[in-house]
Amino acid sequence: MSRQNARRLSAGMVGGGIGADIGKTHRFGMRLDDRYALDAGVFGRDRGQSAEVAASLGVAPERSYASYQEMAEVEATRADGVDVVIVATPNDTHFEVTKAFLERGIHVVCEKPLTQDSATARELVELAAASGAILAVPHCYSAYPMVREAARMVSDGRLGRLTFVDVEHASGWATTPLELTGHKQASWRTDPDIAGFPSVVGDLGTHAYHLARYITGLEVEQVSAQLHTLVPGRRVFDNATVALRLADETPGRLWASMAATGHNHGLRIRVFGDEGSLEWQHEDPHHLTFQDLEGTTTIFTHGLASLSEDSARLTRVGLGHPEGFLEAFGNFYRDLADELEARRDARGSTVRELSFPTGIDGLIGVQFVEAVAASHAADGAWTVPASVADRDAEVAAADAELREAGGK
Ligand SMILES: NC(=O)c1ccc[n+]([C@@H]2O[C@H](COP(=O)([O-])OP(=O)(O)OC[C@H]3O[C@@H](n4cnc5c(N)ncnc54)[C@H](O)[C@@H]3O)[C@@H](O)[C@H]2O)c1
Repeated sequence: MSRQNARRLSAGMVGGGIGADIGKTHRFGMRLDDRYALDAGVFGRDRGQSAEVAASLGVAPERSYASYQEMAEVEATRADGVDVVIVATPNDTHFEVTKAFLERGIHVVCEKPLTQDSATARELVELAAASGAILAVPHCYSAYPMVREAARMVSDGRLGRLTFVDVEHASGWATTPLELTGHKQASWRTDPDIAGFPSVVGDLGTHAYHLARYITGLEVEQVSAQLHTLVPGRRVFDNATVALRLADETPGRLWASMAATGHNHGLRIRVFGDEGSLEWQHEDPHHLTFQDLEGTTTIFTHGLASLSEDSARLTRVGLGHPEGFLEAFGNFYRDLADELEARRDARGSTVRELSFPTGIDGLIGVQFVEAVAASHAADGAWTVPASVADRDAEVAAADAELREAGGK
């Protein structure tokens, strides 16, 4: 690949300290194509531990900060300040941290769920647009080659008219009351102040929801939801079953759980059409199963010469070599690097039809969480996510404008 300016993108991180989960995966993903240098950070709330992590990652001591506020202020004034910041902290801090960088025009990758409510998520999306910064949300499952292939198959009409969508992110990681044992990730994910009462929906449901939207290209127009707490005494909902009404009157269902006994990761999607169906699962990510009307099963594997360019471009080591989660993160960071470099070097946008999720996807995810909570509170009543209500309001306003312009 030829690039106009070979200088690596300068990255900073907030979160990802000692014992943290996802921050390190971001760092692995960023390193795969060697297009980012990790130059600054606040790796946890504990100053000493953060400095320790910074030193182990080769971050200069003066760029290992005491707080994200200090990091935003100082990095924004440095000539060699960071291009992009990764926010990998628990959910209750996403808004303030992301805002601090976006308002200084610094690009941000913010973990999901984008924020705790749609008003703040919208504020971030608007702030990014106003400051010309990219806000990306790492729903990295969409960066698997075989997920891109699935999306391409659907948009090429290989399944015919879509008839049903079935998606689940049903994990068994918190089937026991782990939060009572001091487990770091369980502690905040079962704290309603940090993760919200519909915790599992923001945590795992948003991934499943994004995957369904990404592969089918359909938005969800209504949800009917039931939330449950399967582990007695837990302070949040750890299981959700959601009936979906997608666009074009396509029905679907989504199941999110952190207490699906015995399940490991548990992300799986099946999409049915009137000419064929497909299935993909995260624990076997290099295979995509297609079944035709007669039931003949074809299993596509990443790296096959017959696959689309959307998929082929994301396969790193070729047919027969397993690739997985880290490569998917690497693909997310590669697509993002293409766009960040294009902006830095004043070239045209590189964003393609199947690309990385943005703040809009983050906002739609938060609106989904809110719609699920509202539906549950109304005993499963069909509820319109605000994204659809917004879109309908925009269409109505545009219609009214047109009618006015036409004097009708
Ligand atoms: N995209 C994915 O596949 C994926 C997977 C796991 C987690 N996540 C998301 O990533 C986020 C982090 O989850 P996790 O499981 O890694 O959490 P974690 O508790 O393991 O790690 C969070 C880290 O953030 C640090 N932190 C908290 N507040 C901070 C602050 N104000 N300044 C600096 N550092 C601070 C903590 O010290 C810790 O190092 C969550 O929003 C979660 O939903 C996404």
